[in-house]
Amino acid sequence: NDMLSWQRTSFHFQPQENWMNDPNGPLFHMGWYHLFYQYNPDSAIWGNITWGHAISRDLINWLHLPFAMQPDQWYDINGVWTGSATILPDGKIVMLYTGDTDDLVQVQNLAYPANLSDPLLLDWIKYPDNPVMFPPPGIGSTDFRDPTTAWIGPDGKWRITIGSKVNKTGISLMYKTTDFITYELLDNLLHAVPGTGMWECVDFYPVSVTGSNGLDTSVNGPGVKHVLKSSLDDDRHDYYALGTYDPINDKWTPDNPELDVGIGLRLDYGKYYASKTFYDQDKERRLLWGWIGESDNESTDLLKGWASVQSIPRTVVFDKKTGTNILQWPVKEVESLRSRSYEINDVELKPGSLVPLKISSAAQLDIVASFEVDEEAFKGTYEADASYNCTASEGAAGRGILGPFGILVLADDPLSELTPVYFYIAKGVDGNAKTYFCADQSRSSTASDVDKEVYGSDVPVLPGESLSMRLLVDHSIVESFAQGGRTVITSRVYPTRAIYSAARVFLFNNATGVSVTASVKAWQMASATLKPFPFDQL
Ligand code: FRU
Repeated sequence: NDMLSWQRTSFHFQPQENWMNDPNGPLFHMGWYHLFYQYNPDSAIWGNITWGHAISRDLINWLHLPFAMQPDQWYDINGVWTGSATILPDGKIVMLYTGDTDDLVQVQNLAYPANLSDPLLLDWIKYPDNPVMFPPPGIGSTDFRDPTTAWIGPDGKWRITIGSKVNKTGISLMYKTTDFITYELLDNLLHAVPGTGMWECVDFYPVSVTGSNGLDTSVNGPGVKHVLKSSLDDDRHDYYALGTYDPINDKWTPDNPELDVGIGLRLDYGKYYASKTFYDQDKERRLLWGWIGESDNESTDLLKGWASVQSIPRTVVFDKKTGTNILQWPVKEVESLRSRSYEINDVELKPGSLVPLKISSAAQLDIVASFEVDEEAFKGTYEADASYNCTASEGAAGRGILGPFGILVLADDPLSELTPVYFYIAKGVDGNAKTYFCADQSRSSTASDVDKEVYGSDVPVLPGESLSMRLLVDHSIVESFAQGGRTVITSRVYPTRAIYSAARVFLFNNATGVSVTASVKAWQMASATLKPFPFDQL
């Protein structure tokens, strides 16, 4: 058991033991951020789903609290499943969640804090007349889950949306309510996309096209677009699209139907699922949480005694420069953990070069790096891997004219283990270039029973921009952000040698036809504090 303890993270949120999945009902109340989460108190695999609860002042250091809700009623005896919080204008907090009933039917239930003046929100009351919603006619009894945060429409009524499917079409049902007890099912759907299957954990929220603040969930009007996100049960990834929400007809329309929900952009191209945002009214920003599951096998998780972490919360804004995507960026509070720093500027990386950075014990890092590609070599390249694809490629070992180049993290000195995160430029005969951002897990671990995929996708790069990446390295997690958060990849890796003081960082350029100039700033990251309950004082 102890032999796998290096896989535990040092500044990501984790329970002390056992299984965790989706983040639930995140909110800010009386100076505290609250995170609830899907939790199995009895084992490191899914089951007995209970709401774990933790609080933080800064989204980085956490205090574990007693369970918020347990599966103890007929309407949630098979699991207190995923849900969302709504803060009403009078300050009351409404929690809606899915219960798996004694008959394995998915229903929606209402809960609220017993004492709103308790900053810890320790006690939760389940509404005595639960459930408040049953699967409607035509909807399967196991295809009705994960209610969103509510928003208020021009008619003064609250709306929520709930993911489902009809045959193979993923859909999001619309409901209206005034009291959160009785609900009216609308005839039309918020949205539907054929072929995408069951929509789990739908998230729906406005983003400002002009400003840089986040928006409360009910905000709409000129200068606002709406993000619709769905977690596809069939392929286990979170997809989103930007579009316009019509609050009269309660319909959402994607900006680009070819990049609709489930067939276009992913929030994260790595191991990341069931994410959820909330509006942080204290700092006027929209924050995103996501579940980082395991990609080893269940028997190893049972041996370790735990499974899953939560991502570092990310701020989400509309990308004003491209207009076609959102930007995700680690909350600024994570920078409070930055300690000893390291800087290197304008290192020339010739084709085929590998440069070690003088950082020891490189298992907890925040890295910011930029790369300038030699202009003449780039212009002189007629064609280069026009049909490149990270996932189908040979990873960082596959050499092309204009890529790959980037960083090796969680690497040991002899490079028996390494996790490359890199750019790869493809260029068509028409002269147009496309930049890819990839993370290669194929050599991350000498263990054989772990996932060894190459993750990634293309990333928009505008004229005049250099290539940039930010990496949060935390023992067995690497969260990688390209071009300010246009494309994001979370790697779940299981090094056995590149651990603790043996972990190193390298710059590399494996392109055959271009030199790259790199500049890097890196910080050792202190560990966050996660205190068990009860704790001495706040
Ligand atoms: C997503 C999910 C939700 C469900 C919960 C159960 O990971 O399957 O749809 O509410 O987890 O734990």
